[in-house]
Amino acid sequence: MSARELQNLARDIAARAGELVRRRRAEGVSVAATKSSPEDIVTAADRESEELIRSLIADARPDDGFLGEEGGREFGTTGVTWVVDPIDGTVNYLYGIDDYAVSIGVVEGSRDPREWSALAGAVYAPARDEMYVASSGGGAYRGNRRLAVNTGVDPRLALVGTGFGYDPERRRRQLAVVAGLIGDIRDIRRIGSAALDLCRIADGQLDGFYEVGLNPWDMAAGALIAREAGAQLGGLGGSPADAHMTIAAEPELFAFLEARLEGLGAASVF
Ligand code: IPD
Ligand code: CA
Repeated sequence: MSARELQNLARDIAARAGELVRRRRAEGVSVAATKSSPEDIVTAADRESEELIRSLIADARPDDGFLGEEGGREFGTTGVTWVVDPIDGTVNYLYGIDDYAVSIGVVEGSRDPREWSALAGAVYAPARDEMYVASSGGGAYRGNRRLAVNTGVDPRLALVGTGFGYDPERRRRQLAVVAGLIGDIRDIRRIGSAALDLCRIADGQLDGFYEVGLNPWDMAAGALIAREAGAQLGGLGGSPADAHMTIAAEPELFAFLEARLEGLGAASVF
């Protein structure tokens, strides 16, 4: 399958899962379990969505690998792995805030974001009926509209998205970095879904984004979508984007954010 065909498959599966998730939301949602901390929740819909995605991928591509936030792990034989967040923005989902999404990335090689090569991705926000897709070398799209990041943004006028982890100590350190940065830019947004934050970079609704502590499934699809729209992705000091730091913005703003975050000691947040 070409990268474009993988993108279309990811899109169709994300649409199916998104429809399920939206229906479950209308029926009422409650916390099924907690994970790393009491704030880190999972609902029955997260699990059901991951199961559906996993079975649809297995039907279409039985020999591929799978890595899902809710525990799905499968080493395939093709070298291709599907990296899935069945609901990104679970807390928004719980509260009925529309910024949640199904995120499906298709990567080749390693399952480590530092080393994998992203082939395709789809992020679908069912409550907004917004579908973002990208394929490697094929551009990023929202519906039929090709996406391009904002360019030539004065850092002082940049709207920058970020997010916080679930560990209370890390959140305090993250907030200290925000406190240092917020006076130098237009404003900060904490939307609550890293996958959608990255799509919003692609869409021009955010100028930049950074976060410490992202998991592979939070960024697999969104990072490709942002990159295909012209964003630079990376960590601090020239390292690749990973859990220690993920920054996304057009190259000039990227350089500003990287330098500023270094200066604020963001390297020690993780
Ligand atoms: C979270 C969201 C949030 C980000 C956290 C993620 P989840 O994912 O993407 O925006 O700040 O780091 O863990 O738990 O809603 O799937
Ligand atoms: Ca997530």
